[in-house]
Amino acid sequence: MLNSSVKSRLPASGAVALALVAYGGPVTAEARPAPYLNPRLSVEGRVDDLLDRMSLDDKLGQMTQPERRFVTPEEITRYRIGSVLSSGGSAPSPNTAEKWADMYDGLQRAALAGPLRVPIMYGVDAVHGHNTVVGATIFPHNIGLGASRDPDLVRRIGAATAAEMAGTGVDWDFAPCVCVARNDRWGRTYESFGEVPELPAMMTTMIEGLQGERLGGSASVLATAKHFVGDGGTEGGDDRGDARISEEELRAVHLPPFRAAVKRGVGSVMISYSSWNGQKMHRNRYLINDVLKGELGFTGVVVSDYKGIDDIDGRAGFTRDEVATAINAGIDVVMVPAEWRRFIEYLRDEVKGGDVPMSRIDDANRRILTKKFELGLFERPLADRSYLRTVGSAAHRALARRAVAESQVLLKNDGDVLPLEDDDKIFVAGRSADDIGMQSGGWTITWQGRPGPITPGTTILDGIRKAVDPSAAVAYSRDGKGIDRSYDAAIAVVGEEPYAEYHGDRTGDLGLGGEDLETIERLRAAGVPVIVVLVSGRPMDVAAKLPGWDALLAAWLPGTEGAGVADVLYGEAEPTGRLPVTWMRDGAQQPINQGDGKEPLFPLGFGLTYDD
Ligand code: GLC
Repeated sequence: MLNSSVKSRLPASGAVALALVAYGGPVTAEARPAPYLNPRLSVEGRVDDLLDRMSLDDKLGQMTQPERRFVTPEEITRYRIGSVLSSGGSAPSPNTAEKWADMYDGLQRAALAGPLRVPIMYGVDAVHGHNTVVGATIFPHNIGLGASRDPDLVRRIGAATAAEMAGTGVDWDFAPCVCVARNDRWGRTYESFGEVPELPAMMTTMIEGLQGERLGGSASVLATAKHFVGDGGTEGGDDRGDARISEEELRAVHLPPFRAAVKRGVGSVMISYSSWNGQKMHRNRYLINDVLKGELGFTGVVVSDYKGIDDIDGRAGFTRDEVATAINAGIDVVMVPAEWRRFIEYLRDEVKGGDVPMSRIDDANRRILTKKFELGLFERPLADRSYLRTVGSAAHRALARRAVAESQVLLKNDGDVLPLEDDDKIFVAGRSADDIGMQSGGWTITWQGRPGPITPGTTILDGIRKAVDPSAAVAYSRDGKGIDRSYDAAIAVVGEEPYAEYHGDRTGDLGLGGEDLETIERLRAAGVPVIVVLVSGRPMDVAAKLPGWDALLAAWLPGTEGAGVADVLYGEAEPTGRLPVTWMRDGAQQPINQGDGKEPLFPLGFGLTYDD
């Protein structure tokens, strides 16, 4: 509490001052709260004042981002750490929204225990909802949202994601990925809104959803455009590989979504692991400093990828030279999960040795602190638990269900077998029919995702069962055994197992696996119409099998609200989705993209409706 002597010296407008001094922050010689603690001052003025008060170590800490498992609250205080991240799947135990809020607040209080009381930001990959939290709404992955061609829907998804994040305190989202996937062999194809720059550029509305009209409103989180630049253009679709393309192609294909993101006020940009013509992006001073910060005028925070500075020299671990190279290239915050003490030591040495100018350190800190003031973290540093009730809420799940329906792409519908009637006798099969994990894909609860009931939701089978007349019979058997000709139709829900990043790179066959093919053949042998629902993160090589299928619906990776697929199967929703990527006729065609002269099975933009 304030003692009477301090109170007596408070300026007339004591209200704000009281709140500030009660905040316990530094005060001026006249016992007035330090200007940077005064929310009525301009952000620029607050940053100037705070920078003046910061030591070199204060500033180095702001540029350091450990992973939560490798840093303690006491170390956050002692080393003035500026931000912490959860890597894929890194969650408190038990993994509940409340426990996330407790974790966040505990770490935040540790940051506020520092002499200058600078709050942390906390970053996660909420790439299709707050997807690391059990019980959160899981939205379709970006490739499905690209098929929707609905930027306003994507904005609303961003806002719903930000609300679920705000309840847990998490205030930095490493999303959206605005990559342009040019080769479907790439394991991150599903994180792309599409193969042409117009699609990710269109969907930068996600940024406005996440950040709000401006940073700092209620449920406003820092968005991140990633991965800068050319991650989707590497040779062979090799994740973290080399984009061997001209500057003209880089600027025409991969840069526009970042230009759009900057225009929408994105607060941070993440650097890609990949290289451009042999040079690692994490050392590319021209593209980061001159193009992103200069030409595009980006004034937010440039963050490295996870251990992204380690492989600048192609060898494991990072050196003093890699630290200096990355920071001088324009990286402001380094994601250095465990070796963060060594990072701080090396960067301090590089500054004292003159290899990293103090002006670069101050520029990085100015960018970081500006976002923290704009987010309102100095005034509202703790989780806003009033948003906890939005986590997995009926309203968000309804939005997700609509997004699922809008993302479905109808590729074949012989004999108008679809839409089904709700009193049809239906047989459902396939390993992806009754499995939340399979229909959610990677970046769901864990980094790689996995099959199984990993979080509450509605499977595609659940959705079908809810769609039909109670008297209608919906049989299910994973492998299709039990099918006979008494059924009006059979639905095979098949596709890919969950994966993330390079684990999803497929250099060989892009076709369905043996179990899926056997299931489909078993259904076909019964002589009933067969509808294939493909749950995958990319187009698959199905041309040779397609003639034996009566219908094909690309469901992509719908997330927890599988009823959206049933809505289209039963005509509750029209199939309006259109391909965001060209669909190969043969895996050997990869990369295959609009305008490259190759003959696809289905072109970019293709999609049938029930009127076709
Ligand atoms: C990963 C990904 C990046 C993610 C980061 C933090 O390796 O490349 O998209 O934001 O690490 O999890």
